[in-house]
Amino acid sequence: MKANCLAIRLVLTLMALSIPMTQTTALPTGFNYDEEKVPDYTLPDPLVANNGTRIQSAAQWTDSRRGELLKLFEEHVYGRRPGRPEAMEFEVTSVDNNALNGTAIRKEITIHFEGKNEPYAVHVLLYLPKKNMGPVPVFLGYNFNGNHSIHSDQGISLSTSWMRKNENGNKNHLATESARGSSSSRWPVETILARGYGLATAYYGDIEPDHKEGWKDGIRSFYKIDENGKSLALEDWSAISAWSWGLNRIVDYFETDLDIDSNRIALLGHSRLGKTAVWAGANDERFAITISNNSGCGGAALSRRAFGETVERINTSFPHWFNGNFKSYNGNESALPVDQHELIALMAPRPVYVASAKEDVWADPHGEFLSAKAAGEVYALFGKPGVGVETQPDVNTPVGDFIGYHIRTGKHDVTAFDWEQYLSFADRHYQNPRSDPLPLK
Ligand code: GCU
Repeated sequence: MKANCLAIRLVLTLMALSIPMTQTTALPTGFNYDEEKVPDYTLPDPLVANNGTRIQSAAQWTDSRRGELLKLFEEHVYGRRPGRPEAMEFEVTSVDNNALNGTAIRKEITIHFEGKNEPYAVHVLLYLPKKNMGPVPVFLGYNFNGNHSIHSDQGISLSTSWMRKNENGNKNHLATESARGSSSSRWPVETILARGYGLATAYYGDIEPDHKEGWKDGIRSFYKIDENGKSLALEDWSAISAWSWGLNRIVDYFETDLDIDSNRIALLGHSRLGKTAVWAGANDERFAITISNNSGCGGAALSRRAFGETVERINTSFPHWFNGNFKSYNGNESALPVDQHELIALMAPRPVYVASAKEDVWADPHGEFLSAKAAGEVYALFGKPGVGVETQPDVNTPVGDFIGYHIRTGKHDVTAFDWEQYLSFADRHYQNPRSDPLPLK
């Protein structure tokens, strides 16, 4: 009783002083969270080719440097990937033309990578706004907990895939009915549809379950040859490469669906799925816009800063996320031939958005900003303005033109504020006559 009273008094005092009760989420100890202690570093210059020559034109970037950099990321960070499977089949498994109280069309599509006789498949959930005629632009993003978790809509099939966490309605690593809508705060479906966009999502665990041994039940146990016919051992690629490959296969489906404007696909990912999104967006120029939400280490944040999560820590906690070579940079970030600003630059000249959260210190919000800013050098080659500011903006103050950036108040999450910026960013780029979201050929 006494303890309760004390706790209540403390809460009231904090409220009176207007001190936020959770200023930061608990941070792992033994890592650097002090800007003063960031090591001195020099970022690799995306505009210096492997042979030392300076890239001076958009054509040089597109014709040679872009490919070189992609290869460096493949070799040292994420690994290679297979190509588009010849036997791939798209199966529309459900359609409801009167979903969400008659405002939406809901479709479910299974992409069978190797035909229906092999188990390798991803299940896509697609909502389209009913009020719009003709093909609509779509936001695509993987979810963490199954398609059924994004909305309480009873018409969404309950995922039967392995679930990482036994919480929010999951039991024995399987979803139950009570998991419906458990992640809905991250997916403002009605708002997205009302703004004239479609929304597509899929569970990343369909491609590879997210744990060390997950590859055994995923596509990495099946594909042994990369897109160029070279052999692909397990450590030559990674879970992030496998997940990103799945996103590219979903775009293959979009290209066959006449309700979708496949020239206007915005790819969004949060956290580990943000890392996945930036790697997918870098590889596949069919993504008109790529959005990194709190992607942190191995995503948008600069590795060389070693602020918050480090290369060594991520490789130790999640050894399956990156390829074998990435482990050799544990505690030795400055030896990496690339840094993450160059991954952001690989989206150029397509619009890209990097978002941080103030309390998400583990993901190094300042390092995410510096990376977005440094990518501007490549956008400048195309005559496209980047973040447009020298220093990290104040909280809740979005900046940028072809490279959008914001840091919002709050924790590691996807919020209504984040979505509001992404929807406006897409509106601006799809309608603004100065923008050219179509991939350059
Ligand atoms: C961990 C991990 C991060 C990752 C995050 C997530 O915190 O260290 O790198 O982004 O999980 O995906 O939720």
